[in-house]
Order: sequence, then C-alpha cells, then structure tokens
Amino acid sequence: MASVAIGSGEQYNYDIVRKFTIMALIWGAVGMLVGVTIASQLAWPYLNFDIPYITFGRLRPVHTGAVIFGFGGSALFATSYYIVQRTCQARLISDGMASFTFWGWQAIIVLAALGDVMGYSQGREYAEMEWPVDLLITVVWVAYAIVYIGTIMKRKEPHIYVANWFYLAFILATALLHIFNNLAIPFSMTQSYPLFAGAQDAMTQWWYGHNAVGFFLTAAFLGMMYYFVPKQAGRPIYSYRLSIVHFWALIFMYMWAGSHHLHWTAIPDWTSTLAATFSIMLLMPSWGGMINGIMTMSGAWDKLRTDPIMRFLIVALSFYGMSTFEGPMMSLKDVNALSHYTDWTVGHVHSGALGWVAMISFGAIYHMIPRLWDTKMHSTKLINVHFWLATIGTLMYITAMWISGIMQGLMWRAYDDFGNLQYSFAESVAAMHPYYAMRALGGAVFLTGMLLMLYNCFMTIRQAKSMPAGGLAASAA
Ligand code: HEM
Ligand code: HEM
Repeated sequence: MASVAIGSGEQYNYDIVRKFTIMALIWGAVGMLVGVTIASQLAWPYLNFDIPYITFGRLRPVHTGAVIFGFGGSALFATSYYIVQRTCQARLISDGMASFTFWGWQAIIVLAALGDVMGYSQGREYAEMEWPVDLLITVVWVAYAIVYIGTIMKRKEPHIYVANWFYLAFILATALLHIFNNLAIPFSMTQSYPLFAGAQDAMTQWWYGHNAVGFFLTAAFLGMMYYFVPKQAGRPIYSYRLSIVHFWALIFMYMWAGSHHLHWTAIPDWTSTLAATFSIMLLMPSWGGMINGIMTMSGAWDKLRTDPIMRFLIVALSFYGMSTFEGPMMSLKDVNALSHYTDWTVGHVHSGALGWVAMISFGAIYHMIPRLWDTKMHSTKLINVHFWLATIGTLMYITAMWISGIMQGLMWRAYDDFGNLQYSFAESVAAMHPYYAMRALGGAVFLTGMLLMLYNCFMTIRQAKSMPAGGLAASAA
C-alpha cells in the first residue's frame, strides 16, 4: 500500500499523501470542535469553568493553530505532494524527507497546542509558538522546500503546471515570513524577547499575519483550485493566460497590504494609505482567479446538479469572491474605523476560512480519497448532506457576525445629545448574546458536516482495505 504503480517501473509516493489527508480530516474535526467550544464560551461564559487551561484566551490559539496549520496545513501538504507528482510525472525526490515533514509537522501542531494550553505564548497572532518550536518549524519547512523543489527539478513533463507555481510561492513566502516575524532573543527554554519593538514590531507581525492569509490561506489554496476544479469538471482551465496574470499580480500585491490591519494606530499614515491602495488593487487578481475557476465550468454546468464534489469547489470559489470583495472594502480607512475590533472582522475571516479554505479542501479531499485508496466513496449521499450542512453553517456564522459586528461598531460610536457615549461597553456585550448563540449553532452545524465527512472517509478507507489487492480494478475483474 506504500505507493501506486504508474508504468515503466516508476511509482508515485502516495503513502505520504494518504497520511497527510487523514491528519487533515482529524485536525479539521479537532479544530472545529474547539471552534464550537470557544464560540459557546463567548455566548455562555460559565463554560470557561474557571479552569485556566480551558479558558477562551488559551483555547482560541488552539483553535486557530489546529484549523490553519493542522487542518489547512495538512491538506496543503497532502495536495501539494499529490499534484507535484502527477503534474511533473515524477516521484518525490526523497521518501525519507517527505516522511520527516509529516512527523515534524504533526509534532509542531501538538507542541503548539500544548504551549497554548499551558500558557506559553509569544503573544503574536498565528505565531504564538515559542522559539524552540519556531526552530523546528524552520527545519521542517526547509525539508518541505527541498522535497518540493527537488521533485519539480527532476520532472519528466517540461512545463511546470500553474498549480505548482502557487504552491512554490506559498513555500517561499511562508519561509520568509516565519523567519522575520520570529526573530527573537531567547532568555529561557520557553521564553524570548522579540527583536523589534513598538510600531515596528506591530508592522512586522501584521506583515506576517496578513501574508499568512495571503500565501497560506489563499495562494496555496488557489494552487489546489487550479488542479482540482479542472480535474473534477473534466475540462481544461478556462484561461491559462489569465492564470499566469493572476499568479504574478496576486503575489506582487499581497506583500504590500499588511498595514491595513493597523489602521488608526501609531504607524505612519502613509503606510496605512499604501496598504489600503494595494488592498483595493487586490480585488482585480482575486476576482480574475475566481472567474477563471468558475468559468472552467462552462459547458459542464449540469455537473453542479449531480456532483456534490463540484458543488463544494464552486461554492468555495463563490465565497472566495465574496471575501475578497469584502476585504478590500474593510481596508478603506473609513470603513475600517467601523469594522475594526468588531465581529465584522471575525465574520470576514470565517467567510474566507469556512466558505473558501475549508470548502475547497473538502472538495479536494473527496476527489483524492477514492484515487488514493483505489476505491469509490462509501456514500455520495453523505457528501451531499455534508455540502448542505457546510453551506448552511457558514451562512449562519457569517450572517450572525455581520449583524453583531456592525451593531457593535455603531453602539461604540453612538453619542447622546450631551456628547456622552450612549452605551456602556457592557451594554454592547449584552446585545451580542443572541448573535453569539447563533454563531455557535452555525458552527455546530458546520462541525456536524465535518464529522460526517470523517465517518464517510473512514468507511471508504475501511472498505478499500477489505478489497482484494489491486482495489477496484481487481474486484471488478
Ligand atoms: C466549526 C467551525 C468554526 C467555529 C465555530 C469557529 C469559531 C471561532 C471563534 C469563536 C473564534 C474567536 C472569535 C473572537 O475572538 O471573537 C474564531 C477565530 C478564528 N478562526 Fe474559527 N471557527 C471555525 C472554523 C474555522 C476554520 C475552518 C478556520 C480556518 C481555516 C478558522 C480560522 C479562524 C481564525 C483565523 C480566527 C481568528 C480571527 C481573528 O483574529 O479575527 N476557523 N473561530
Ligand atoms: C483581497 C483580499 C483581501 C483583503 C484586501 C482583505 C482585507 C482584510 C482587512 C482590511 C481585514 C481587517 C483588518 C482589521 O481591521 O483588523 C482583514 C482581516 C482578516 N482577513 Fe482578510 N482580506 C482579504 C481576503 C481574505 C481571505 C480570502 C481570507 C481567508 C481566509 C482572509 C482572512 C482574514 C483574516 C484571518 C483576518 C483577521 C486577521 C486578524 O485580525 O487576526 N482575508 N482582511
């Protein structure tokens, strides 16, 4: 079961893809379960139970780490190793190093979560891990870059398919961001001082934070999109030329936009304006990519009626379009004056995270699993049920956050006739309660879909293992 034959004696390493795929499913379920827990804690604070290890403040980074790096990261490792081998017609250059990236990455997620729960944190969002874990990340990432780039270099197919370009940008940018944002002087095994201070520190953190979104949660998932949408639709990508323009424009523009996370703070005004300008410009390549993906369906639209995997992929693209419209709007200083510090941001995050990142990953994993285990899915009906639960859950989540976010922003800036603030902060917190309950419910619906997926994939793998060697082909013969 370690690998699959592809003729002329050479083989792909699918074993590593299988391992990362399974971990993506597991981390997805764990991360979303923690997501529902913290959403419930915000609605019903007694759920913190006064136990420091499981309070909202500690579980929140466990959630972001498990979903972004555990679920998203494992899905990206799995799909990138799958795509690079298939599009380059070459086996990974080193099974040992690929295996090291697997065990190393899983250790990082576990260590990060333990650190969060124990209260060790650098206090940098999405980079909470202390320096020993940061060093481990660097080593694992270098191994990943060597395996990926090395495989491209020994390709048998002369052209480097565009999906690989997006993954390459993701690998290189993540290395750069990780190293500079984590420059620190250790003073014990579990603590360190950051090298930067004050506004420079904030700008470095949000250069990192924003490009983690741009390259981890966007560019790499676009690589996924450029492979799995045409594959599942059975048609070539709508415009290959547009995909190249999309690539260069996107990676050039993302790097400049980080300061839109710091509007109205102590940073120089021109950096804010620069970030807003680039953010508005980002709308164009983002929508170019979305249109390119969706138009790949032209002539095959009927598939949306019958193929739930196609639905996942296309709805993911629609949410990508929506969040990349909303993002540029929120980067305008006047809009940001209302949206910043409110749940509107959290709504925007999850329209990207649930609608785009999770849905495109679900589509890609459903596409890969039958091929990796040489079988067919246990139940297509369950994929369909999952699709509807994911869509309804996402809509409940983001609608609740839009209402509560805009309400928060308006309540905080409302003045009475005497120029005093009209509402106390506590009043705005009380007003959020119904929307926090609705978000927790939406999250629970989304999580239910994820658990169904876990069950469906588990049954698929089990049925594949009980088939005679050679999988579907052998059992049909
Ligand atoms: C069942 C699904 C999910 C639920 C219920 C959920 C819930 C939450 C909650 C309650 C927060 C804290 C919000 C706050 O501090 O006010 C949060 C933050 C966050 N979640 Fe999720 N989440 C889910 C899935 C995901 C997924 C799949 C991803 C990424 C792929 C994700 C990425 C994030 C990020 C990046 C933040 C930080 C947002 C910010 O700082 O503005 N979440 N989530
Ligand atoms: C053109 C594309 C986009 C632009 C210009 C953009 C812009 C923005 C802006 C202005 C904020 C609010 C900053 C603040 O007030 O604190 C924000 C937050 C955020 N966005 Fe986007 N966004 C885009 C696409 C996306 C996508 C596709 C995702 C996907 C997953 C995403 C994830 C996030 C996250 C995680 C945050 C919260 C960061 C934090 O405070 O922790 N964004 N974005």
